[in-house]
Order: sequence, then structure tokens, then C-alpha cells
Amino acid sequence: MEKREQLYEGKAKKVFATDDPALLIVSYKDDATAFNGLKKGTIAGKGVINNQMSNRLMARLEKAGVPTHFVEELSERETLVKKVEIVPLEVIVRNISTGSFCKRYGFPEGVVFDEPTVEYSYKNDALNDPLICDSHVLAMKLATREELELIRTYAMKVNEVLGAFWKSCGVTLVDFKLEFGRLEDGSIILADEISPDTCRLWDAATGKKLDKDRFRQDLGGVEEAYQEIMGRLEAKDTGF
Ligand code: TMP
Repeated sequence: MEKREQLYEGKAKKVFATDDPALLIVSYKDDATAFNGLKKGTIAGKGVINNQMSNRLMARLEKAGVPTHFVEELSERETLVKKVEIVPLEVIVRNISTGSFCKRYGFPEGVVFDEPTVEYSYKNDALNDPLICDSHVLAMKLATREELELIRTYAMKVNEVLGAFWKSCGVTLVDFKLEFGRLEDGSIILADEISPDTCRLWDAATGKKLDKDRFRQDLGGVEEAYQEIMGRLEAKDTGF
């Protein structure tokens, strides 16, 4: 597989063309941002950890019946993925109240929900990724009713599979954000990444935050938390 020109540089990854029009190479950076780019920094080694973690979690999800963009890990920071047209929605699943949920509703932190919640944000940096409801997604034709239904079903399955896996690692999957894309044939697959940048992961015994909230909230020990959570995964995730 030959790496060609850079197509895009985002906040955490670069995307390159390949000699196959259906495949792209993503390259994970150590750059970290929060609050829509207002806070900027570097988390040493993050790119390697996020690349490897995302790939291993996506391989696990594929086995459980959730189609993903993952094709092959090429190096510590680079992965071959299927090219998709991104559905411009951030799909957020929550098991425990925290973050923008508590802020928006003035709701207490740390309440375990009876059922997971799903919400969508419209992926648009200029508008600060506003929360969006199903009927507005349909009105703007960001996705069809059938696609939304499938996205919700896949998001719930991801929560089930990864919630159980992280539990086996002594980690609570508090909430997370997913992005989906369309292949040429119109089918919907999971894209982007699943990492401590996009999930809240708390030590099940102590409640210690092992994710990007340490960076967002200036809690310190950011690199150590990424290493700790990767170590937990590696100890349990064998055979892929
Ligand atoms: P929130 O509580 O700030 O809405 O975040 C919910 C989840 O989404 C949390 O696991 C962090 C993740 N997330 C992203 O991956 N990207 C983002 O830009 C934001 C705001 C949250």
C-alpha cells in the first residue's frame, strides 16, 4: 500500500490518500485540544496509544457484528482504514451523568442511569457542535431515518461490548462519542477513533479518571493516565 498526498489535518489526526481510492491512511498525533480548540497542548505518546487502542477496540467490535473502518495497523501511529463519507453527527452514549449532561440540565454528577442515553451533536466547529434532535437531522438530510436507526443500534451495541470489556479491565465506561460514515455502497460503518480522547473511563475501584478529562480539567498525570489505561487493555485484550 503506497502512501500518497495528505488530504486533511484535523486536531488529533492527519489523513493521507493511498494508491487505492477506497482506502486511506490515518496518522495519529500527540496534539490535544479541548473546548473546540480553545485549549491546546501535547500529550506525549498519545498518538501511539490512541492508534493502538482504537484498532484493538474496533477489531473487537467487528467480531461482535459492528462494521468499522479498520483495515490494518501499519505502524505505531498509522492505520489503513476504509474511506467513508462522514455522517456529520457526534453520537454520544452515556451510562453515568457527568460532563455537558450535568452542565446543560443542572443535574448532579455521578448518577448511574437505568438505561444508557443517546444524543447527537451536529458536527460543525463554527457552530460549536450543537446538540441536534432526530427531526432536525432528517430536515437537513444529514442522515435518513433508516441510517439514524442503524446508528443508534450500533451505538448501543458498542456500549454493550465495550462496557463489558472495560469492566473486565476494572474500568467503568462512563460515556463516549462515536462517528459513523458511509461506504460507496451506502452502508453505514463505525469510523474515527475510540480512545481516551473520545471516552470517559474511570477506575472502577477508585473512580480515578483515566482519560482526556485529566487534560480538559488540568488534573495532572495526563500521560500516566493514558499509559495506565493502555496497560489495562493490553493485560486483558489478547488474541487479536
Ligand atoms: P460531554 O459530556 O462533554 O458532552 O462529552 C461526552 C463524551 O464525548 C465524552 O466521553 C467525551 C466525548 N467528546 C469527544 O469525543 N469530543 C468532543 O468534542 C466532546 C465535547 C466530547
